[in-house]
Amino acid sequence: MDLYLDTAELSEIREIAAWGVLSGVTTNPSLIAKTGRPLEPTIKEICQVVQGPVSAEVVATSAPEMIAEGRRLAGIDPHVVVKLPTTVDGLKACKALSSEGVRVNMTLVFSPNQALLCAKAGAWCVSPFLGRIDDISWDGMGLIREIAEIYRVQGISTRILAASIRHPRHVTEAARMGAQIATMPARVFQQLIKHPLTEAGLEAFLRDWARASASF
Ligand code: E4P
Repeated sequence: MDLYLDTAELSEIREIAAWGVLSGVTTNPSLIAKTGRPLEPTIKEICQVVQGPVSAEVVATSAPEMIAEGRRLAGIDPHVVVKLPTTVDGLKACKALSSEGVRVNMTLVFSPNQALLCAKAGAWCVSPFLGRIDDISWDGMGLIREIAEIYRVQGISTRILAASIRHPRHVTEAARMGAQIATMPARVFQQLIKHPLTEAGLEAFLRDWARASASF
């Protein structure tokens, strides 16, 4: 499973990219707005750092406008994946852009049937928002499981990008379900590496070695 950052903050992206395990980045209009910077140069810089798929989302809501905006976004850098909302117009735009060879990430997916439609429209990946489903006391991971089963049984190659991840357990479970990609905030990425027994174990190794090596 590829690990992506869900942020538009370049400092966070640079820091995690330096670990050597970052495959891509997802952004959305809220995340871009938070940076206080214009979209195009921000996406360009993210692409230069990541050198992998970077999702940039349209803000248009009609299919013709989404197609035009999607083409503009795709023109920023070859790493751009155009993100479209899962609406009827989004499906139409997905079909058109995918047919032109533009990779499309269908976002705001909350049901298996939406994921099926996105795949039929040629989406490169779908983004089920598991955290937002958990937020309303429903089963976010169940959605990933159902989409993964449908895609497997139907021989669909559209990738599942587990989105709206809130904690490390979401990452583990998404990997077990067979999601090809998981995107998460930098805070969750940092949590993935941490374990109290790793820290305690290392501390003990170094302490024992310091004591013993003093008498060598
Ligand atoms: C995915 O691409 C979205 O940007 C993101 O995962 C949404 O997460 P949120 O529910 O934390 O806003």
